[in-house]
Amino acid sequence: MTGAWNPLPPLTSHDFDIVRRLASDTCGISLHAGKTGLVSSRLERLVRKYRFDSFSEYVRFLGDHRSSPEFSEFIDNLTTNHSGFWREPEHFTFLQQTVLPERAKGIRIWSAACATGEEPYTLAMCCAESRVAASISASDISRTALTAAMRGEYDEARLSALPAGWRNRYFEQDRVTPGHWRVSTTLRASVRFAIVNLLHPVVEAGTFDIIFCRNVMIYFEQLTRDVLVDRLVQQLVPGGYLFTGHSETLLRLPPALHYVQPATYRKS
Ligand SMILES: C[S@@+](CC[C@H](N)C(=O)[O-])C[C@H]1O[C@@H](n2cnc3c(N)ncnc32)[C@H](O)[C@@H]1O
Repeated sequence: MTGAWNPLPPLTSHDFDIVRRLASDTCGISLHAGKTGLVSSRLERLVRKYRFDSFSEYVRFLGDHRSSPEFSEFIDNLTTNHSGFWREPEHFTFLQQTVLPERAKGIRIWSAACATGEEPYTLAMCCAESRVAASISASDISRTALTAAMRGEYDEARLSALPAGWRNRYFEQDRVTPGHWRVSTTLRASVRFAIVNLLHPVVEAGTFDIIFCRNVMIYFEQLTRDVLVDRLVQQLVPGGYLFTGHSETLLRLPPALHYVQPATYRKS
């Protein structure tokens, strides 16, 4: 058994190829050879945690247990759940100034790849500020991230990017843990969370006025991105908007999708 002080045999190129295939086949995550060092250091912690003797033994286990909690943890460690309130604010100001005034009767929004919840809660706050009734669905592949999102508890420092007054309007201070704030019950109730792998269609979710799919396509191969964007466009109503991360410019626009401004597209 490998102790914390015993060096592990290094991740071989054969094992790295297996890791690569597992990540790509199950989640679309593309890992190029330059990532070997990063992958090795991230997975080493898990190899030790689960007391495998080597990377080889660990990757063999993963291949045979793709629905296990260990597999979810493996995927969590290959991506980042990093997010933030009011992240890439141009999207939220566009929403408030241009989109929400046109949707006074109500709006359906999907935050695909919502990580720890900051994005859907920011969307919920924007809608509340504009007094637009919103139905917000939020999804991610990571169970750990979604559990944190549903809890809706954040360190005070994480809330500093929000516009003035929003923290006190939409959060309650945690009486037990100083410096922690919890999303208000009403706001939390306006967001529904679900596990969704963006590699697979989710037709039962219906159509949306707005889809936020930000900072997840960076992990995917171009072909996976293209297929996903085609599917997202099908899930938009005519006139609906798709928002991507600002570093994820769409190279190939489906015919129905038009560029509006950076990382903002509209379906005709
Ligand atoms: C960097 S976070 C983006 C969070 C948020 N959208 C934002 O921009 O702040 C990327 C998220 O994508 C999720 N993810 C990675 N592959 C996925 C897949 N195949 N399906 C759904 N979510 C995925 C990860 O679990 C992670 O939470």
